[in-house]
Amino acid sequence: MQDLDSLRLLIQSHIPLIFIRSREEQRALALITRAAINLGLPVYRWLATEGLQRLETSLPPQRIHMEPEAALGHIRSVMERGLYVLVDFHAYLDHPLLRRLLKDIALGYAQAPRTVILLAPEIEVPTELKGLSAMFELALPGEKELRDIVHQVAHEWSSQQASRRKVSADPQAVDLLVRNLAGLTATDARRLARMAVADGTLSKSDIAAVMTAKYQLLDQGGVLHFEHDTLSFAQVAGLDRLKRWLTQRRPAFLDPKANPALDVPKGILLLGVQGCGKSLAAKAAAGLFGVPLLRLDFGGLYNKYYGETERNVREALKTAEVMAPCVLWLDEIEKGIASGGQDDGLSKRVLGTLLTWMAERRSPVFLAATANDIEQMPPELLRKGRFDEIFFVDLPGAAARAQIFAIQLRARHLDPARFDLSALAAAAEGFSGAELEQAVVAALYSAHARKEELATRHLNDELAQTRPLSVVMGERVQALREWASNRTVSAD
Ligand SMILES: Nc1ncnc2c1ncn2[C@@H]1O[C@H](COP(=O)(O)OP(=O)(O)O)[C@@H](O)[C@H]1O
Ligand SMILES: [Mg+2]
Repeated sequence: MQDLDSLRLLIQSHIPLIFIRSREEQRALALITRAAINLGLPVYRWLATEGLQRLETSLPPQRIHMEPEAALGHIRSVMERGLYVLVDFHAYLDHPLLRRLLKDIALGYAQAPRTVILLAPEIEVPTELKGLSAMFELALPGEKELRDIVHQVAHEWSSQQASRRKVSADPQAVDLLVRNLAGLTATDARRLARMAVADGTLSKSDIAAVMTAKYQLLDQGGVLHFEHDTLSFAQVAGLDRLKRWLTQRRPAFLDPKANPALDVPKGILLLGVQGCGKSLAAKAAAGLFGVPLLRLDFGGLYNKYYGETERNVREALKTAEVMAPCVLWLDEIEKGIASGGQDDGLSKRVLGTLLTWMAERRSPVFLAATANDIEQMPPELLRKGRFDEIFFVDLPGAAARAQIFAIQLRARHLDPARFDLSALAAAAEGFSGAELEQAVVAALYSAHARKEELATRHLNDELAQTRPLSVVMGERVQALREWASNRTVSAD
């Protein structure tokens, strides 16, 4: 047990305060007790509900030193070696007297070697205790441990059946399950494994449910969203070069070991005219790779958790790594990290967090970022090497416009063959995909109002009445194109 060794080492290196951040209280307590027995130390646990209690011998709780102050006072007065585990003490750490008591205990370590362990799901080390303490993290179970968990759970299931029937498991599904449990704590992995074998079979169809449940377990803050609907590129018109690029990289992304000569693709930035399929293409990337799509919501990041923003970004990125392989979609990235905005300092720190992660990430998380506005894009992000490629998504050409009409009509259960797509495409010069979609919606309404079936002329009328954004904002579109011409690759 690697955890046991590292914890023992930490205790033996005379560090007076050890902070353990973990949601797995039982597992952590079991580990601490084993370490104590191993080192021949008495171990006590403090709970707000039960006070101080000896752990390694089973005495009933005596309800002594219930108050945190009394408990610390007691520990301070003890001269013998010992381990004291304070559970959920984070709630009291903003109390100056209690912090001082902890510091007294720590400073007195040379005379009285007591080790205090603070165990809580979330805990920050107070500044004045930093030099006197160490953080300890429970390692997540590795592949072998996860496989053991799956076997144990299957065994449990069959021992609960009157018939002692065994779980019928497809070996490939077992492998997939083990792989998908990676990154979870032992407790959570066990829970999901139970869910997967609840019906007595383990097949590939259980895996999707495990992925969703896993995501729900990890989804704490709500800034990362699991997008259930990915798209296929069949629903995206044009962008052929982008599609080819992604198709070529798919094998190296999904199975880097089988393709050691190829760099594992890291991500792309899609830059360009609004409403031309950037968001669509980001979703389709996940569909093409056949992996989950996670969207990081910058808007939510800033609004809801003011002051905790960076931590939320870090956690979201960590969650994405646990869900790997996956596509992480950063939509309209310039809004999250605009340079020169109101809160420049915060955006810079968020950008810093993102860049660090991009440079250091180990897991196959493919970034698909989109942006409409280059003026607000921090130059650091555009530098070579950040993304594998920056694609420019321009207004659709005539062929793509015809395709978009066809896609939109089909989505509304209309047969594109009944329409003159090439005439429509010609009439829609300068329209974005979003505007074409709007034209179809509006034409349907006007046809409906006249009690007519939708036909080419209704669409033509709508197009004639619309001044597309590319005309209204011609200069901006032109400036964007010029900027992009020597810095990006065309997605088409
Ligand atoms: N290339 C395209 N292919 C198919 N539909 C498109 C395309 N571009 C835009 N659309 C339509 O316009 C809508 C908006 O596109 P979106 O991807 O959100 O644009 P962007 O993210 O570039 O602003 C889409 O939902 C889709 O209906
Ligand atoms: Mg978009």
